[in-house]
Amino acid sequence: MNVMKSFRETLLNSKHVLILSGSGISAESGIPTFRGAGGFWRKYKAENLATPEAFASNPSLVWEFYEYRRTVAAQAQPNKAHEAIAEFQKRLKKDNRIVSIVTQNIDGLHQKAGAENVVELHGSLLKTQCTKCKTVEKNECIPICPALEGKGSPDPKAQSSDIPVKDLPRCNNCGGLLRPHIIWFGENLDQQVLSKAYDAVESCDACLVIGTSSVVYPAAMFAPQVAQRGVSVAEFNIETTPATRDFQYHFDGPCSVTIPEALSP
Ligand SMILES: NC(=O)c1ccc[n+]([C@@H]2O[C@H](COP(=O)([O-])OP(=O)(O)OC[C@H]3O[C@@H](n4cnc5c(N)ncnc54)[C@H](O)[C@@H]3O)[C@@H](O)[C@H]2O)c1
Ligand SMILES: [Zn+2]
Repeated sequence: MNVMKSFRETLLNSKHVLILSGSGISAESGIPTFRGAGGFWRKYKAENLATPEAFASNPSLVWEFYEYRRTVAAQAQPNKAHEAIAEFQKRLKKDNRIVSIVTQNIDGLHQKAGAENVVELHGSLLKTQCTKCKTVEKNECIPICPALEGKGSPDPKAQSSDIPVKDLPRCNNCGGLLRPHIIWFGENLDQQVLSKAYDAVESCDACLVIGTSSVVYPAAMFAPQVAQRGVSVAEFNIETTPATRDFQYHFDGPCSVTIPEALSP
């Protein structure tokens, strides 16, 4: 039997579908993945700027990097994969069935497509956190503050702006320095967010894992854990990954094509 048809039948009979997404789902919306050629900003590797140490030693540079990433995310539009997922979630909801969306992405594109209750494992480009009072707030302003206007060019020849800390984004409540609400390399995931993800990992009866290299922990363990319970997991990717052999299905190709095929009515 046709494999896609077989997976669609699994979906037809499931009450709780878990969708795990990584940066590959947003690649076709023009947001570069980390491990692809888009892993550089100026002469820096993203991994070296997305750290608490980088922010402590040069908050101006890190804010320029995030001003750029916020601008890219604000301009990006959800693609057919994000749209098919949001539509699938709405359709199943009418039937009292659940679609949980757990993403490693920080770009907000699932929500822009209309998806609800998205669990953002690594935070969001569209939120800030105060380094002093810890308040987390939604913030979609571009520029995020006057001093960052027009800053953040990714050109390797661009000069760093060395913005004084007092002119970087500040907290409305206490005046403290704001940081992007992102879980940086070396930081722990939020326990409440993680437990929401685990609830879905433990209770779903079908799972799609889309556009993730399955090497970033703990997200990389979720789909293999679901598969270990004997639940059907389908991987959607343009390459195989270290986790592919754990899954019942692998659908090769750009997810803007394969996801609508899997989820359409
Ligand atoms: N869009 C974003 O928010 C964004 C962008 C870059 C990095 N990140 C962060 O970087 C980390 C990267 O881990 P990751 O596993 O998400 O990404 P990754 O870069 O490690 O892997 C991306 C995966 O997507 C696949 N892919 C690329 N284009 C695809 C397409 N059109 N259709 C299907 N698959 C495609 C690649 O083959 C690869 O396996 C995460 O922690 C994430 O928070 C987020
Ligand atoms: Zn504050």
